[in-house]
Amino acid sequence: MTEPTDSPAWPTSPAAERNKDPILDVLCGALPGRASVLELASGTGQHAAHFAAAQPGWAWQPTEADTSALPYIDARCAGLANVRPALALDVLARPWAAALGAFDAVYCANLIHIAPWATCAALMQGAAQHLVPGGVLVLYGPFLVQGETVAPGNTAFDLDLRLRNAQWGLRLLTDVVREAQRVGLLFEQRVAMPSNNLTLVFRRGERTGR
Ligand SMILES: C[S@@+](CC[C@H](N)C(=O)[O-])C[C@H]1O[C@@H](n2cnc3c(N)ncnc32)[C@H](O)[C@@H]1O
Repeated sequence: MTEPTDSPAWPTSPAAERNKDPILDVLCGALPGRASVLELASGTGQHAAHFAAAQPGWAWQPTEADTSALPYIDARCAGLANVRPALALDVLARPWAAALGAFDAVYCANLIHIAPWATCAALMQGAAQHLVPGGVLVLYGPFLVQGETVAPGNTAFDLDLRLRNAQWGLRLLTDVVREAQRVGLLFEQRVAMPSNNLTLVFRRGERTGR
């Protein structure tokens, strides 16, 4: 499917433009060709539009806490038959609506470092509840890895985030994995991405996660 043309009137993230193809490569390896996907914190909708256009077999459900973003996500994805209308979803407002249903995959980019730490636990609980057994959670963003040198850019980014909001900051991979394990999401894969980011893949156990 062809990705709809962007309008200059829509909010646009240069970072999303740069990272969308590397993330798509990882998603193509982690998800089956036919899959229902719940996206959290969809932001501008650039990822939703790009991924859904590239993979017509993926049924994409964008969501955002900032309801003012929903019309832009819908506009950006207009014409893509495999993208549902964007829904309001605050990851921290647990439990998420049961009517959301179950998904083969949950995808979230660049949220848990720009949100209070409690967002990570809420994301894991919600993902475990709304993933089918064997389904995958894919997280993209900058993380700190114990025992590994932090790239100067990430050190500066972490400091900048903490100055903007004391509850924000880059998260330790071990802490994120611990929150996932608590709800039965097994850490399966870590992929190095451009600009010192990571993509993390977790899988819901066949008999756990609720
Ligand atoms: C840095 S942007 C990332 C947007 C997009 N995922 C991307 O990578 O381009 C962070 C997004 O998280 C959203 N957000 C913040 N707190 C949230 C929450 N509790 N639940 C859902 N979305 C949230 C913001 O509104 C914003 O759109």
